[in-house]
Amino acid sequence: MLKPHLLIPAAGVGSRMKIGYPKQYMPFVDDRNLLETTVWRLSEMTLFASIAVVVSTDDAYIDHCDLPQSVRVLRCGGKTRAQSVYNGLKALELKGDEWVLVHDAARPCVSKQAICRLIERLDLGDVDGAILASPVVDTLKIVNEAGLIEQTVNRELYRSAQTPQGFHVQALIHALADRLQTATDEASAMEAVGAKIAVIDSPVSNIKVTHPDDALLAKFFLQSI
Ligand code: CTP
Ligand code: MG
Repeated sequence: MLKPHLLIPAAGVGSRMKIGYPKQYMPFVDDRNLLETTVWRLSEMTLFASIAVVVSTDDAYIDHCDLPQSVRVLRCGGKTRAQSVYNGLKALELKGDEWVLVHDAARPCVSKQAICRLIERLDLGDVDGAILASPVVDTLKIVNEAGLIEQTVNRELYRSAQTPQGFHVQALIHALADRLQTATDEASAMEAVGAKIAVIDSPVSNIKVTHPDDALLAKFFLQSI
């Protein structure tokens, strides 16, 4: 099977977690913080040609982390997630036609099976990229500025985008370059340049630890994986 590179953006400030320091360094499970948990899980999957983590230029925590020896730490994070990914991709100096998967440090519960399905899809060679996503279970409403329902939409047409998201390195660098302030994921940048992107079903347990309650839920999911 194809062996893509893995880039893990971890240069955010975690403002919604409200713990006073970046959430990727919050104690998580078995004496590991959130970042260590995510990196070790992905490393032990043995699916990647290389793994690199992007942290902010003034990060004061990463030197105290226990990460696998082969993991590269890139101190080149930016103000937005897109900027961090862009800077990280440039720093990696990979060949343009190599595949890279980008995965949030804040998603420790991602399933190996789902990543394998994503890589297999890239390997087929019929798409420009692929992302993990989960079906939407709630009924979806469009709501106006007054907080009133405008209409109900067909949820079958919608997916919640997760990570990893995989693309060719050079194509992703090009797409992100013009969208460093606006792209909230890699796929949205690639969509804007007309890329054909496959969506791979992934369990809702691949949550992004964002608010305080999410940490409890993610720890529960990790126990049951
Ligand atoms: N990220 C990053 N660089 C940024 C912003 C985010 O590398 N400038 C990373 C985060 O560290 C995280 C991932 O992108 O692993 C997803 O972002 P998010 O969950 O939004 O984390 P934060 O931006 O840190 O949190 P918040 O939006 O609540 O401040
Ligand atoms: Mg954010």
